[in-house]
Amino acid sequence: MLVCHCQVVNDRRIRAEIERGARDEVDIALACGAGTQCGGCLPAVNRLLDECVQCPRRPAAVFVDPAAPVAVG
Ligand code: FES
Repeated sequence: MLVCHCQVVNDRRIRAEIERGARDEVDIALACGAGTQCGGCLPAVNRLLDECVQCPRRPAAVFVDPAAPVAVG
């Protein structure tokens, strides 16, 4: 099944990258380019990452907006 239409990457390729050690969307993007253009395939990429029970997900990165107001008190 084609997962990433922009980069023409199918589910078998993504599963293969997960088996080789990809643990998040960034790993998948670096390995095969999926998710690097419109991002429409990222939910499907994440489902494939979640399907692999022997492949623990890397904790999601926390992005902090340095321009955001800081709550005090
Ligand atoms: S469908 Fe994957 S980046 Fe657009």
